[in-house]
Amino acid sequence: MIEESVEFLKSRIGKVDVAVILGSGLGKLAYEVEEAVRIPYSQIPNFLRSTAPGHAGELVYGRVSGKYVLLMNGRFHMYEGYKPRDIVYPVEVMKMIGIKKLIVTNAAGGIKLSFKPGQLVFIKDIINLSFRNPLIGPNDEKVGPRFPDMSSPLSTAWIEKANDAIYESMKERLESGTYASMLGPSYETPAEIRMLRKIGADMVGMSTVPEIIKANHVGIETLGISCVTNMAAGVLPQPLSEKEVLEVANSVSKRFISIVKIIIEKTC
Ligand code: HPA
Repeated sequence: MIEESVEFLKSRIGKVDVAVILGSGLGKLAYEVEEAVRIPYSQIPNFLRSTAPGHAGELVYGRVSGKYVLLMNGRFHMYEGYKPRDIVYPVEVMKMIGIKKLIVTNAAGGIKLSFKPGQLVFIKDIINLSFRNPLIGPNDEKVGPRFPDMSSPLSTAWIEKANDAIYESMKERLESGTYASMLGPSYETPAEIRMLRKIGADMVGMSTVPEIIKANHVGIETLGISCVTNMAAGVLPQPLSEKEVLEVANSVSKRFISIVKIIIEKTC
């Protein structure tokens, strides 16, 4: 079944220097792709449909900053009712296409009190609080090991290279933080956020961790970027809303695009 998706995509796209999964409200990078080939998920054999707001549901292949990229504009979440295994199907497809590098992005709540809405942060580590794992079920040793090592889930070397490149162009560096994933779709309570802060989380969201686990399983080097769209529940005396999340993500999309373009140009 996966061969069908792979053969279909190979017939539509060429070599890929890096794949990028775009998070909520961060899809505008898809408009910056030159010589773009747009492939709606609905046309790809065996692909899921994207139902979350702010997620377009298409692959976009083409050139960004002189490199060949495959963008996933719209990802899948467990709160949509998908099985963890199905969510990471595209990452397995990426591996079979020959992709070696993946940038995962998301909108996240800021737990670390010094973070500000609109801040972009590299993900240096993850805490899987969804208590689901995309590798549950039979394992094909040809795809990856039964018990994959997770001692370096995100590439520290890539974060350093990316930060050097950002510094060269913009004279600044991004902070790095630990991302905790919750199942959602309700946002967290203030007590949950206090707990997450105690256990070492800096950002919280409802995505990305399954894709990072799968990328480690199949041996794809991964860089993660969170856009802190709001302070997490209980930090400020105001309710959280999806509108705010999408508005803030949209408002930083220019900066997000500049930074991702630098990373693609200089490190991929
Ligand atoms: N919590 C969970 N997911 C999120 C948040 C949040 O505060 N902001 C954006 N995605």
